[in-house]
Amino acid sequence: MDGGQTRFAGVMGWPVEHSKSPRLHRFWLEQLKVDGAYIPLPVSPGRLPEAIAGLPLLGFRGVNLTIPHKELVIQLCDKIDETARRIGAVNTVVVEDGVLHGTNTDAFGFIENLRQNSSWTAPAGAVVLLGAGGAARAIAVALSDNGVQDLRIVNRTRERVQSLIQSTGLKNASFVPWNERDQALDGAALVVNATSLGMQGSPNLDLNLAALPKTAVVNDIVYAPLLTPLLADAAARGNPVVDGLGMLLYQAVPGFKAWFGISPDVTEELREFVLA
Ligand code: ATR
Repeated sequence: MDGGQTRFAGVMGWPVEHSKSPRLHRFWLEQLKVDGAYIPLPVSPGRLPEAIAGLPLLGFRGVNLTIPHKELVIQLCDKIDETARRIGAVNTVVVEDGVLHGTNTDAFGFIENLRQNSSWTAPAGAVVLLGAGGAARAIAVALSDNGVQDLRIVNRTRERVQSLIQSTGLKNASFVPWNERDQALDGAALVVNATSLGMQGSPNLDLNLAALPKTAVVNDIVYAPLLTPLLADAAARGNPVVDGLGMLLYQAVPGFKAWFGISPDVTEELREFVLA
């Protein structure tokens, strides 16, 4: 299917206009002078099976999936890897010889963002994860695979944490009720907000950082605004902070490499371009 032709990839979502992925991939395509295109593909949930089946026919190298397709697409892939299976979601499809491979690069993106922007390592101690939705599942898998021994998952709804722990096969994870979130910070080496709280248009995250060691890294997956009230609070008391934009940028690296054949870099210039 190659023959030196233009390589195509894209993002399927419904709606898809808000996705930052086209801007991000186009930056790399241009910077690396790749003969390729990355296209926003509005696909309604009912049409997803046909749209996915059409990818090899149209010569697409693959796609990203965004809301609401990440779970639905699992059964439409020919193969899914272990990470995607445990997370229960596919965000990247790669077409190889007509075979659809599904993977999930959010866990990679999360860890890579932390590694590149902080000195956090798993042996540093307990991790407090706020939230148990789709993003939290990928983060929990990433933390567990990286050797975190004490993962405290704080969430409003207990059942969601139980199902997260069960379906991801997580060890060393415990549920903390939402009203005990302030105390859960005691002795932690990393805090991650994986709820939507603090996002533009959402209520703020009410979290008292008093019990948190000043050495603990604080990471928010919310990136609009870039400096969330949580990160501003943490920075004001001297904690190292990592914003959420990096996770979005790093999760895109494996897909770009698989579709276009070159591993792209995440740079300050890219960050500014995506934010502009
Ligand atoms: P995503 O897939 O982006 O992670 P999600 O599945 O809607 O989004 O998950 C949102 C997370 O934010 C959940 O952990 C949710 O808590 P529940 O599981 O109890 O619903 C959390 N969340 C959203 N609004 C909240 C609020 N007002 N107070 C506490 N947690 C909230």
